[in-house]
Amino acid sequence: MSVAGFPAGRPRRLRRTAALRDLVAQTRPAGSDLVLPLFVKEGLREPAPIASMPGVVQHSRDSLRKAALEAVQAGVGGLMLFGVPVQRDATGSGATDEKGVLNTAIRDVVAEVGDATVVMADLCLDEFTDHGHCGVLASGGTAGTVDNDATLLRYRDMALSQAAAGAHVLGLSGMMDGQVGAVRGALEESGDVDTALLAYTAKYASAFYGPFRDAVESTLEGDRRAYQQDPANLDEALRELALDVAEGADIVMVKPALPYLDVLRRVADRAGELGVPVAAYQVSGELAMAEAAFAAGWLDRDRTIVETLTAIRRAGAGIVLTYWAVEAAGLLAAGAGR
Ligand code: PBG
Repeated sequence: MSVAGFPAGRPRRLRRTAALRDLVAQTRPAGSDLVLPLFVKEGLREPAPIASMPGVVQHSRDSLRKAALEAVQAGVGGLMLFGVPVQRDATGSGATDEKGVLNTAIRDVVAEVGDATVVMADLCLDEFTDHGHCGVLASGGTAGTVDNDATLLRYRDMALSQAAAGAHVLGLSGMMDGQVGAVRGALEESGDVDTALLAYTAKYASAFYGPFRDAVESTLEGDRRAYQQDPANLDEALRELALDVAEGADIVMVKPALPYLDVLRRVADRAGELGVPVAAYQVSGELAMAEAAFAAGWLDRDRTIVETLTAIRRAGAGIVLTYWAVEAAGLLAAGAGR
């Protein structure tokens, strides 16, 4: 029995049927918002599973092309390529070798899918250096000190190689100061005005990258706290955003995603005023946690995937990098999780 006139508002009226909920839903992620990260390992003949990333593999050249095509057919918005080389050295020379694993992968994928999706490449040295850091080490510095400006010179060369290989977007993930400006300058000087830059604007020094380091067989000892952001800080993300936009970033990103939704919201509000699109990276550790719970029967797979992507989109990311991109595109098209 209700008392006449009470309660004044009844929000449940709009939750009553699926059709009503759909009509008023503010955030519905779609496959075209999602970017699939892909790993390709030099010399592999068959794809190799990654133990800490269930469902994700290191691809061979052949299986990479197939996976790219499958992603396009599923309606995924883009691909982010990571290479795993056989040889590594102090300066990461494989990164600027035209025949290196990543540059080859870009060419292969562009040949396979052309402009049917957005082909992105990771622009960072960590997969290519023997010490596993994202840049070249300072001579005479304390062990593991990355030389910022010497690294920028390497990034400039890497950008030219990746653009020459046909990447549409370069993903600057190294967290060096000035990396966006350095790369933008190199591209402009070469006459390339079209290649877009996705800046890893607020990339935190996170434990959630652990499984990724298995995926790329990282040789890193120690950590990246001297260049990636401190999880304790939020305002600093806005400083990084101002710098990246001033230096010519086309898209800005927050990473990881789910544990950093507060950062994402702040960055998205500011970037939105400037008209710059915002991405978020649902990283390897986010996948690993959920997959472990799915395997144990503790979380419902489809609903959890859709809910995490919805939360990340709701917090302000128009673009989400996720290892579930292909599966999620199917789920979203089928209306799962509503
Ligand atoms: C660096 C890079 C990393 C990730 C993406 N680019 C690793 C790191 O910074 O240590 C992590 C992505 C993930 O965990 O899924 N090239």
